[in-house]
Amino acid sequence: MASLAPAALAEIQNERGNPHWTGHPGDAALDHIPGEDGWPLVGTTFMQLSDPLGFGNRMERTHGRIYRAKSFGRRGVTLIGPDANELVLFDRDKLFSSEQGWGPLLNLLFPRGLMLMDHDSHRLDRRALSIAFKPGPMRAYAGQLDADIARGVEAWGQPGAAQTPIRFYNAIKALTLQTAATSFLGLPFGPEADKLNRAFVDMVQAAVAPIRRPLPFTAMGRGVAGRRFMVEYFTRLVRERRASPGQDMFSQFALATRDDGQLLAEDLVVDHMIFLMMAAHDTITSSATTLFWHLAQDQDWQERLRAECRAVAGGDARAIGYDDLGKLELTELAFKEALRIMPPVPSLPRRALRDFTFGGYRIPAGTTVGISPASVHADPALWPDPECFDPTRFTADKVAARHKYAWVPFGGGAHMCLGLHFATMQTRILVNHILTRYRITAEPGYAPRWQAWPIPKPRDGLRLTLQRIA
Ligand code: HEM
Repeated sequence: MASLAPAALAEIQNERGNPHWTGHPGDAALDHIPGEDGWPLVGTTFMQLSDPLGFGNRMERTHGRIYRAKSFGRRGVTLIGPDANELVLFDRDKLFSSEQGWGPLLNLLFPRGLMLMDHDSHRLDRRALSIAFKPGPMRAYAGQLDADIARGVEAWGQPGAAQTPIRFYNAIKALTLQTAATSFLGLPFGPEADKLNRAFVDMVQAAVAPIRRPLPFTAMGRGVAGRRFMVEYFTRLVRERRASPGQDMFSQFALATRDDGQLLAEDLVVDHMIFLMMAAHDTITSSATTLFWHLAQDQDWQERLRAECRAVAGGDARAIGYDDLGKLELTELAFKEALRIMPPVPSLPRRALRDFTFGGYRIPAGTTVGISPASVHADPALWPDPECFDPTRFTADKVAARHKYAWVPFGGGAHMCLGLHFATMQTRILVNHILTRYRITAEPGYAPRWQAWPIPKPRDGLRLTLQRIA
């Protein structure tokens, strides 16, 4: 694939390269849906990219909870609300394609990942890969993560200093990349892991680059070069891991079998692993950053979580074993609230495979249909005072009283996040090691600006202060 010309490569993202995709019905077929086309040529693309939440809020206020916009050259439809989330995610009638929703964004860099597959073939591969998330392997990752995170977090506080300023997002991102090398790939820290991380970061940035052709000196050009490097490296690694497996996730993928007992093909293992790293990395970084930002502002909740960690670990700066991580219940509530306030995947795209009707509107086959966890998570009718950080929203009684699809940071249905328990586990380990070593504060009045797209992050890296307590 990498040897194809840029124009041919770019077709992997559209119908010309994917004749099996359901063709767009044409913009006029969506005339009856309220909405806007934005500016000539670029449509609403840049408005959506620069401020997705603000754009969504304005569209919802102006046009209602079903509206059309025109991004990347075509009209599409957004459906807002928990019922819309349920329709699209649960997808009882197999109306929607995830491959054709995500493909235009991800096919060139992350082809054949689970989100780029549909229905039967998706089900078979997902079942094969699920083996990597069973309790045995999870226990091994927990041990590795605990050791790596303890070492990384310990080094954050400058030796002898009572206080250390930190760019929290950057520190968590670096730590998460390091832990991915060890727990996902079974590689030691070092220059090799650094090179892979660089290639990986280039790929992630390219996925949302406005120029979709891999021309020299563009983000997409760098992303495609990064992918080439990763594919070569991972192909060698599949062979090594099949010959002598370790306790890492890549070994699990390399040995995963379909229902008929056959190993997955080498190139498929490689694509699944590259996709998984993309799905895992920025999402964990973003959600952990949101959580610690709120804990820095809410010292009361910070202290409650610290006390919980101390009680479970038996003191400061100590490991919590896999079997005890589930006892960090307040930590879990706080993590859920952080995921509500700033879901790392703010909107999810699909493509309609057949005509359907929702909220009184007929939506034709081939339409790109988006839902917005970020909007639903901020709806005051579902979440009173939605901007306030309040983990008690997730006590069992309150969860039972709410629409099941009101909180969907991990999606739902057949494509629900495969790594949600991994993400929760890693966050618990982070909280334990960070809060039992440091008190975290923010300067009074500090209000960082957040970049909302593609995955939320503070533009300045989030300036916090660590005060050593252990
Ligand atoms: C807080 C962290 C995370 C969040 C918020 C998150 C969110 C999501 C969401 C919303 C989807 C569904 C997308 C859709 O339906 O279109 C998804 C899918 C997925 N996630 Fe996560 N994710 C997180 C962490 C992880 C981690 C740590 C891993 C792996 C270790 C992972 C692996 C995957 C995979 C493989 C899929 C595709 C599943 C499928 O299509 O069957 N994610 N994630």
